[in-house]
Amino acid sequence: MISFAFSEEQQLLRRSIREFLEKELRPVSAETDRDARFPAETIAKMGGAGYLGTIVPEKYGGAGFGKVEYCILMEEIGRVDASVATILGAHSSLGSSALLYYGNEQQKQLYLRQAAAGEKIISFNLSEPEAGSDAKSIKTTAVRDGSCFRISGSKMWATNGREAGIFIVFARTGGRGAEGITAFIVERGAKGLTFGREEDKMGIRGSSTMQLFYDDVVVDGGNVLGGVGNGFKVAMTSLDVGRLSLSAASLGMAGRAIELAISHARRRVQFGRPIGELQAIQFKLADMGMRSRALHYLVYATASRADGLGPNPAEWKRSDREEMTRDCAIAKCSASETASFCVDESLQIHGGIGFTKSSEIERHYRDARIYEIYEGTNEIQRLLIGRDMIGRGWQ
Ligand code: CAA
Repeated sequence: MISFAFSEEQQLLRRSIREFLEKELRPVSAETDRDARFPAETIAKMGGAGYLGTIVPEKYGGAGFGKVEYCILMEEIGRVDASVATILGAHSSLGSSALLYYGNEQQKQLYLRQAAAGEKIISFNLSEPEAGSDAKSIKTTAVRDGSCFRISGSKMWATNGREAGIFIVFARTGGRGAEGITAFIVERGAKGLTFGREEDKMGIRGSSTMQLFYDDVVVDGGNVLGGVGNGFKVAMTSLDVGRLSLSAASLGMAGRAIELAISHARRRVQFGRPIGELQAIQFKLADMGMRSRALHYLVYATASRADGLGPNPAEWKRSDREEMTRDCAIAKCSASETASFCVDESLQIHGGIGFTKSSEIERHYRDARIYEIYEGTNEIQRLLIGRDMIGRGWQ
């Protein structure tokens, strides 16, 4: 038997997260977007409520959520504010996952604990001016110097760059390709780590996106994460989690776009009746509903399959890992395009008012666009999916 129902506990979890976000996040979202301001007070409250450490095992101060529960959290955040989904995505899905799956005991006791408690936010520094989609071509170097490494180079698109206390940075310790890349844990305040331009973005304006410079930053060898030469795997494993969690956030945004469209269609009267009674509007809602419902099953089936394979992807069989990489790419790509479709149709149903700053859908319309770009563009997701289909076939 296949069960697609959430357990009592999962439903309760969703309700309590929604209650928290409606009280603490929704009232500030329009303002933090308008002012391009990091919602520090809300993030602090989320830390206090344990939402910054959900995927971290209890042993390290977290809640020990599986992927299904984590997707519930991300879906609920995505319903309200994509900036916060982005902040949590970089901190938790990327940063905490890297520490959890590849950190040694000492690193987990120190850094993962701080991250889980929300004492320190994580920034994940992979992309560079000349290395975006082609992540293997990073030029930042880490040169061994006795028991330390000296890191030099520049990074781009670093979410949480302005607020982070911990930076997971990827640098080249060896020759070309994936084998020469190593992940490091760098703390804020490290000499030589400086901050460049902050991007002025069209959406997710409540999250910071920074350029970072590593100028001969000395890092102790004990801060190598996952072993020398293993950094590309650290990055890719974390990005699989990130892509799944973004699919849940996109699902939340699609659902919110539908709610807003229904509410507007019930209220707005034209030609003597609510526009929701017109088939032109109902057909739009039906298309949004079909795509969103299909996405719901895709996201949670993928999360549930990941949970079934065991808590640490770094320990999965290679064929299982490859299947999950493909499925996380499928989920991320379909979800971001579904979110874009739904916010676009919802805005159309809103008419002129949807094109103004007074409507919530206007913010989601701008925010949705990034889901098709970051954590691997949808072209990269299609590359991963198609390449796997040709290589391993379709089952
Ligand atoms: N888990 C573990 N290992 C993995 C893996 C995964 N998901 N994916 C690949 N690997 C391993 C491979 O097995 C291979 O190792 P072996 O040779 O030992 O088998 C090695 O890594 C190299 O893999 P590939 O040959 O597949 O590498 P590629 O260069 O052909 O393809 C890519 C890689 C898919 C194009 C990759 O570069 C990619 O995902 N690019 C997009 C980068 C990206 O998503 N950037 C976003 C950065 S985060 C961000 O957006 C900022 C933020 O703050 C939110």
